[in-house]
Amino acid sequence: MTLDGASQPLLVANHVGRTFHLEGEEVHAVRDISLTVNRGRFVAIVGRSGSGKTTLLNLLAGLDTPTSGQVLFEGRDLAGMGEKEMTQLRRHRVGIVFQSFGLLPLLSAYENVELPLRIAGIGSRRRNERAAEVLDLVGLLPRAKHRPFELSGGEQQRVAIARAVAMRPSVILADEPTGELDSVNAESIFGLFSQMAGAEEMAIVTTTHDQTLLDMAEEVYEIGDGLILERTAVAPLDAPEVDTPQAPAPAGPAPAVDNNIFRRPD
Ligand SMILES: Nc1ncnc2c1ncn2[C@@H]1O[C@H](COP(=O)(O)OP(=O)(O)OP(=O)(O)O)[C@@H](O)[C@H]1O
Ligand SMILES: [Mg+2]
Repeated sequence: MTLDGASQPLLVANHVGRTFHLEGEEVHAVRDISLTVNRGRFVAIVGRSGSGKTTLLNLLAGLDTPTSGQVLFEGRDLAGMGEKEMTQLRRHRVGIVFQSFGLLPLLSAYENVELPLRIAGIGSRRRNERAAEVLDLVGLLPRAKHRPFELSGGEQQRVAIARAVAMRPSVILADEPTGELDSVNAESIFGLFSQMAGAEEMAIVTTTHDQTLLDMAEEVYEIGDGLILERTAVAPLDAPEVDTPQAPAPAGPAPAVDNNIFRRPD
């Protein structure tokens, strides 16, 4: 039986390993990691510096190729995908937030966010609307014209997050996305991720060092020396769906939702 993409888990790492060869020495950055990321799940990866988090995220993003095992996107092995298919995947389905932000230095915050939409061929009006919307979401609309060097580290980080979510990808892979942020903004970014995972069905895979943020994730993988040490999940993934009767809708209008959760202090 062949399954279509939508009925598959979104992203699967199947006994993935990555060994680097450096000056005659072998570095086993990722030894043997298996994990499944389902649609709309908010997954966090924690581990000490050098435990293999960035290497793992690069493998999940298809930016690097495993030396053993496979990474499957909707059941398809990334290693077997052609250049064209890989490009489509990166443009439309996967959003990446790099540990080093990866913003283009000559472009403004707005232009950095708009770029993936432009590359994907979105028309100018929708591009403008969406770029403004996601910049507003991370509280940086007032900084839209600033170039990266005219922004603080945390602001650059938030632009990188806005850029990654702009295309509404199926999955966001974020490497230490809150490393430069104060606790209030870090919680807001995780709140945004949590909201996107739930409301927009975007799966989120993020690394973090911040223990206080882990409670906001639905699943936490702790990795050490390229292996999974522990996995904790708020609900068992394979629990059968329970058909609970729907509660009657409350009378009156729904309470207004404040989307701008990244307000700057006045
Ligand atoms: N290109 C490379 N060549 C050789 N060794 C590498 C390479 N990239 C990573 N490593 C090594 O692999 C190990 C895992 O690195 P990785 O960057 O994945 O760690 P990390 O968990 O992301 O750490 P941090 O929390 O500091 O970002 C480290 O020991 C690192 O030195
Ligand atoms: Mg890293």
